[in-house]
Amino acid sequence: MFSRRIRELAPSGTIALSNKVSKLKAEGIDVISFTLGEPDFATPVNVIRAAKDALDAGDTHYTPSMGIKGLREYIARHVFRKNGIKTGIDNIMVLPAKFALYAAVQAIVNKGEEVILPDPAWVSYGPMVQLAEGSVRSVPMEYENGWHLRALDIENAINSRTKAIVLNTPANPTGSVMTRPELEEIAKLAKEHDIFVIADEVYEDLIYEGVHHSIASFEGMAERTITVAGLSKSHAMTGWRIGWIIGNTEFISNVNKLQQHSLTCLPGFIQQAGMEALKSGAGNVEMMRREFLERRNMLIPLINSIPGLSCEVPKGAFYAFFRADLGMDSMKLSERLLEEAHVAMIPGSAFGPTGEGYMRMSYAASRNDIAEGMRRIKEFVEALG
Ligand SMILES: Cc1ncc(COP(=O)(O)O)c(C=O)c1O
Repeated sequence: MFSRRIRELAPSGTIALSNKVSKLKAEGIDVISFTLGEPDFATPVNVIRAAKDALDAGDTHYTPSMGIKGLREYIARHVFRKNGIKTGIDNIMVLPAKFALYAAVQAIVNKGEEVILPDPAWVSYGPMVQLAEGSVRSVPMEYENGWHLRALDIENAINSRTKAIVLNTPANPTGSVMTRPELEEIAKLAKEHDIFVIADEVYEDLIYEGVHHSIASFEGMAERTITVAGLSKSHAMTGWRIGWIIGNTEFISNVNKLQQHSLTCLPGFIQQAGMEALKSGAGNVEMMRREFLERRNMLIPLINSIPGLSCEVPKGAFYAFFRADLGMDSMKLSERLLEEAHVAMIPGSAFGPTGEGYMRMSYAASRNDIAEGMRRIKEFVEALG
């Protein structure tokens, strides 16, 4: 009845678990959830006001499929000032970041071609490649090496079928931040082997140590880099579904065809809000970043104080990806934590085979929830003996 393509597609592990949490909460169970990568702040008021004003002004119709020109101009200025990416409005499309990544893979990957993914990596890259009938080539990373991607491992994974490498810095689920020399080595490989880099930079504003570098700004990389970012994580705008994709003009015009036959466009009032977010500077972003930093500094010692758990200090994003040596696999641990301690977090295995033995805890949660959640986990671990 259903296509093989869709039958073979697994549901998102993260969304499935958060749906389960919602169900338990609806039954009156006091679950503390550290599952979703979603800032718990309200969207800044000026951004909400801009959307309301646009609605009142009748901005409720179709907009250009690439996104409105004013917003694309803002994005061009924003990425140049912040990340040194030299680009113009014909290189930019306004899309939700997740759809942008899906569209990027659809636009470049043919059946049988390979995409190199870090392992562990965000849960949706693999299924996106699968939907394009491509194959994933995973490059395992190591906890002991701070979950950094090694250029040598990437080089060993490249072959004649390789189409693209996905880089995600700061990374979900590990919180690692790639350094400039690391990115330079990968840029060199991409040029030598004529492959695309898909740079997922949705967490670019959430860095606590180190600096964000956009590989698209490196010498000779603009042509072959597809940069995806957005406002979800930086401006607490996950529900607005607004982000962008940057690439060479030929790539963008191909993504635009996909847009025209699928989403059509993003709502105008959402794009007006997006403009306001970019216009209003970094004040709100910085306030939220500082709060995440405080929570991280509170959380990591709590994790490390529990026997069997250990975590290096993550440098970016808002996830702790901690080791859990408790005599059960990460899926079992996730199930038992939810059922017995009423704490939800994502099993590391959801992010790839190398994630087994780890758990992802999002600290985009209140300090109270972090304190109470960790108390429950400690109690659970002590009861295990
Ligand atoms: C690494 C990564 N890329 C992309 C996305 C998608 O972002 P958005 O919700 O803005 O589409 C997420 C969301 O969790 C993510 O973690």
